[in-house]
Amino acid sequence: MKYRTMGKLGIQTSAFGLGCMRFNGAASGDSVIDEQKAISLIRKAIDGGVTYLDTAYVYLNKTSETVLGKALRDGYRDKVTIATKMPFEAVYDRASMEALLKEELEKLQTDHIDFYLMHGINREKWEGFKAIGAPAFFDDMKKAGRIRYKCFSFHGPYDQFEYILNDWDWDMVQIQYNFMDINNQAGTRGLELAGGKGIPVVIMEGLLGGRLAKAPDNVQALYDAFPVKRSAVEWAFRWLCNHPEVSVVLSGCNEKEQIEENLRIFDTVAPGIMGAEELKLMDDVRAAYLSRTKIGCTGCRYCMPCPNGVNIPGVFSAWNQVSLYNTDPKTDWGFSQIKRNDHGADKCIACGACEAACPQHLNIIDGLQRAWGELNAD
Ligand SMILES: NC(=O)c1ccc[n+]([C@@H]2O[C@H](COP(=O)([O-])OP(=O)(O)OC[C@H]3O[C@@H](n4cnc5c(N)ncnc54)[C@H](OP(=O)(O)O)[C@@H]3O)[C@@H](O)[C@H]2O)c1
Repeated sequence: MKYRTMGKLGIQTSAFGLGCMRFNGAASGDSVIDEQKAISLIRKAIDGGVTYLDTAYVYLNKTSETVLGKALRDGYRDKVTIATKMPFEAVYDRASMEALLKEELEKLQTDHIDFYLMHGINREKWEGFKAIGAPAFFDDMKKAGRIRYKCFSFHGPYDQFEYILNDWDWDMVQIQYNFMDINNQAGTRGLELAGGKGIPVVIMEGLLGGRLAKAPDNVQALYDAFPVKRSAVEWAFRWLCNHPEVSVVLSGCNEKEQIEENLRIFDTVAPGIMGAEELKLMDDVRAAYLSRTKIGCTGCRYCMPCPNGVNIPGVFSAWNQVSLYNTDPKTDWGFSQIKRNDHGADKCIACGACEAACPQHLNIIDGLQRAWGELNAD
């Protein structure tokens, strides 16, 4: 296992951090956790050198923290740092924040949390957290030793990331990042902004929830043609760890073979390890994925609101995602939300208001019909 220094905090961490969100098939919607299996996976990772464990109050129907707490008995707690999170939806004042933290400490069977994150905030939630006094609460808990570092995790657009990062003296940030998301969410700009301030960056969704682990034919052909053979997973993690700003790469593993492979990979990675040819390979791989883009919708939402209730950018995003990563539409979260909220393309009456507003001049009406047909095909 390779270890890294966490920016201005100056502490050492394993480059591989175990995510505790995906045990026992949770990725495919099975929320019943197999406790014994999860505990043995967690301990296997720690025995292999992992020192960073990531969980959250809400993961696995609120059972993830409990299972992690059990796994860290028998001396394991002293070997690791724990990151867990406060969801904005669960708190509304100081007393509710105190109650939530107390519950989390009890579930984790510990007297302190190392990295305490405001969970998945955007600008609106950050303003909400400020309005209920969360920054003062985090500062007080830090002074009291109940948390060591005040942090946030983030999935919003770059401008909001920049605002939030510059608005408080954060100790660490957790962002979604991988070789496909260089211009998405916080992206490379966000990574470098945090790195420039010495704020350690923890990466989530490094394999896009597993989608980058299964290379489609055109991507596999590029990997196969490269002189050094590595799995798709290894290329993805190697690319991430090549960035000096990255402190920890989280990965949520469901199987012991995945832990074993990731332990092996994270024994070989280091900042600046990739030469020009390897970096070009990853650029080509990204282009190969993007060549499967179905429609050039940028999600600007100029077409919205649709007078008939179609979530136009949502349908196009699901269409592109399913095509890019060769996944089953039934497992696409965005597509399932559109169907559940009845915002599908079957509501389109071809009025054309969207096409008149689209700055990309897309054939939206035709695109919606094709997207809906392909997403709903058996
Ligand atoms: N704060 C937030 O808002 C937030 C959001 C998302 C995630 N997170 C945290 O970040 C962690 C990491 O994100 P993630 O779980 O999405 O990470 P990820 O590495 O992108 O995806 C994990 C999935 O990748 C696959 N995988 C991992 N190692 C593999 C290997 N060696 N070979 C083949 N497949 C492999 C598995 O998919 P299969 O199960 O399909 O095999 C696994 O479930 C989460 O567990 C969670 O703790 C936080």
